[in-house]
Amino acid sequence: MAIQKVGVVGCGLMGSGIAQVSAQAGFPTVVREVSPEIVDKGLRSIDKNLARLVEKAIINEAQKNEIRGRLKGTTALEDLKGCDVIVEAIIEQLPAKRELFGALDALCPASTIFASNTSSLTITEIATATKRPQRFVGLHFFNPVPVMKLVEVVRTIATDPAVYEEMVAFGTKLGKTPVRAHDSTGFIVNRLLVPYLLDAIRALEEGVGSIEDIDNSMKLGCGHPMGPLTLLDFVGLDTTYYIANIMFDEFRERRFASPPLLKRMVLAGWNGRKAGRGFYDYSDPQKPKAMKF
Ligand code: CAA
Ligand code: NAD
Repeated sequence: MAIQKVGVVGCGLMGSGIAQVSAQAGFPTVVREVSPEIVDKGLRSIDKNLARLVEKAIINEAQKNEIRGRLKGTTALEDLKGCDVIVEAIIEQLPAKRELFGALDALCPASTIFASNTSSLTITEIATATKRPQRFVGLHFFNPVPVMKLVEVVRTIATDPAVYEEMVAFGTKLGKTPVRAHDSTGFIVNRLLVPYLLDAIRALEEGVGSIEDIDNSMKLGCGHPMGPLTLLDFVGLDTTYYIANIMFDEFRERRFASPPLLKRMVLAGWNGRKAGRGFYDYSDPQKPKAMKF
């Protein structure tokens, strides 16, 4: 079955990026959000990214308009009905994802392939909210989606091998390098990355170094593009908190446990860059200032 039309659910940090790369790869793409305001915000961020590509002469104005013409934002789930593959990128909470896929299952033809961009939930547990676990995979993209080259393609014990290969090929069509992963919590990248990020918060809590010094240490000492606390703000502290809880629940190991400071920051709504405040204050986004706790 050839993929001709793509659906994306969620137009936040990840969904907007996935919708953008899908339209750039030539697929008519429908992206669904919960309110018109959030649809507009997501599409505006795509417009900004495409305008930057025009400025850098990577695409021309006509190509930008073609890409934009392939994108449709909506709040109506029914608009996803004709899509051959639907990629979900909503909040990292199991009940929300199961409810969404249950509704999509009732709406879409049996041929539609479902994919979740979950960071840490078990694909099997999401897939069993549908009657098509054989047509269900994980497609785990990385933030920022238009820039990061990787997609983890995740299969469960129930995934049809032909559907899995089709999704590996789809990842390549989106301009990504696919890696194959089993349905193990956190897959490959987050199994390794999440304990590191949580340890950076523990180092801060224990007074090992300041926010700036912890970040500069990993940038200048290890060549990372961002320090861990900047990266946490970039990923979203709410999302990281959900991920940590899910991974701790699965593995029962301290390295996956949420540090108390992370919980308190999420309770306070300091969810990182997207909220204007996290380990840094983004009042001036060009010059983030480290917070004082
Ligand atoms: N959307 C689209 N493009 C973006 C972007 C965004 N949000 N942010 C930056 N870019 C582009 C810029 O336009 C620029 O493009 P050119 O090279 O063509 O000019 C390029 O990325 C580099 O940007 P900058 O020069 O502004 O800044 P930088 O050199 O610091 O790079 C970065 C920014 C690519 C984000 C880099 O800092 C980086 O790689 N950071 C680490 C990101 C990372 O680790 N992501 C994984 C997070 S974990 C995850 O995603 C999994 C999970 O489940 C939580
Ligand atoms: P986000 O908070 O930026 O966006 C989530 C969006 O989903 C919100 O805009 C919300 O309005 C929308 N939403 C919630 N319920 C919905 C529904 N039923 N239908 C349509 N839209 C709905 O979060 P994000 O960072 O984009 O994360 C989304 C998913 O991607 C999560 O599962 C997360 O674990 C995963 N992920 C995140 C990152 C990251 O770095 N942030 C990286 C890889 C994977």
